[in-house]
Amino acid sequence: MANKAALISGITGQDGAYLAKLLLEKGYRVYGLLAHRSTKPFWRLSYLGIEEEVEFVDGDLMDLSSLGRAMAEVKPDEVYNLAAQSFVGVSWQQPILTANVTGLGVLHMLEAIRLNNPEIRFYQASSSEMFGLVQEPIQSETTPFYPRSPYGVAKLFGHWMTKNYRESYQMFACSGILFNHESPLRGLEFVTRKVTDAVARISLGKQSDLRLGNIDAKRDWGFAGDYVEAMWRMLQHDVADDYVVATGITSTVRQMCEIAFQHVGLSYEDYVVIDPKFYRPAEVDILLGDASKAKQQLQWTAKTSLETLIQMMVEADLERVRQEGKNVSGSIMR
Ligand code: NAP
Ligand code: GDD
Repeated sequence: MANKAALISGITGQDGAYLAKLLLEKGYRVYGLLAHRSTKPFWRLSYLGIEEEVEFVDGDLMDLSSLGRAMAEVKPDEVYNLAAQSFVGVSWQQPILTANVTGLGVLHMLEAIRLNNPEIRFYQASSSEMFGLVQEPIQSETTPFYPRSPYGVAKLFGHWMTKNYRESYQMFACSGILFNHESPLRGLEFVTRKVTDAVARISLGKQSDLRLGNIDAKRDWGFAGDYVEAMWRMLQHDVADDYVVATGITSTVRQMCEIAFQHVGLSYEDYVVIDPKFYRPAEVDILLGDASKAKQQLQWTAKTSLETLIQMMVEADLERVRQEGKNVSGSIMR
């Protein structure tokens, strides 16, 4: 039998890169949906050494016809929809774009699959941000949603559309409700990477302080490399379903800063400056996930502690900042 083919939207993002690596290791033919951009952001795929192994197909979540063409060309067995406007903070500045890409884009994907080959297995990247103003202290698949950002509202639309296509058309459509997950490939706009990059710069004398917003917010942070395994397992299961993917431990942004600064022998209190510019119009104060369904049905558990994760990210940023002086292209990786 020929190797399975997978189409990944959002392949140039953090999760897309780790998932592509995992699927290549499993023998898949991996295709990445590539939206037209003025520059090709392949640094994450290069970092993992897989840029040459992935094939690319043009397509944008906003253009249903391009998705239909991509399905017809690739004939995937599995589609992973990871593409999104994924930064919560910007979703108040660009609510309509966020609703279109992060919400309506999911429906475009589902329609492209239904019209081309409804047998394709589909993974939707849903989010713990849908829990928002949490209705239960520990959030599981049965916890009611209460999104707090235009991003969260858009994700909820995608989540319900995924369920609806499963129930209406018997499509194998899964929704992974993933809690925050980070890595050295995280975008610099997200708080963990903003902190680890700043720690590297401060420790190497290239930055003097770090301006943050609400450092009392709590998140259930895991490692992206662990979480893409859960995505794949969902699509190998005998029935399509929704799963929470989380570590079951929550920590404040403050605690995360403490780990990062301590790793280079510094104290965060000496460098962190609170800047209200980074406060959000409506905050998600705490997230804490219960991934026992994923554990029971998919045999998946998180393997990486927050300490290990943040130390790994600080080390990667130290290396990048050191390289910057020697290699001008290093700055693209920030
Ligand atoms: P990311 O690094 O921001 O990657 C987003 C990807 O979406 C990029 O490849 C981007 O392409 C692509 N994209 C944006 N607009 C597009 C469009 N109109 N058409 C096609 N592609 C488009 O996000 P991530 O952290 O890997 O997250 C992956 C997915 O999981 C996202 O849907 C995110 O919302 C969701 N999620 C993430 C987390 C987390 O903690 N990381 C948790 C829960 C859910 P360019 O590079 O060309 O812009
Ligand atoms: N980005 C950022 N920058 N966040 C800050 C800052 C800052 O300077 N200071 C404090 N924070 C707080 C935010 O207010 C938030 O409470 C928390 O740090 C985490 O922010 P982000 O790292 O931007 O992540 P997020 O939780 O809003 O969203 C991420 O996780 C979601 C899953 O819950 C993204 O990856 C989403 O795409 C994902 O769905």
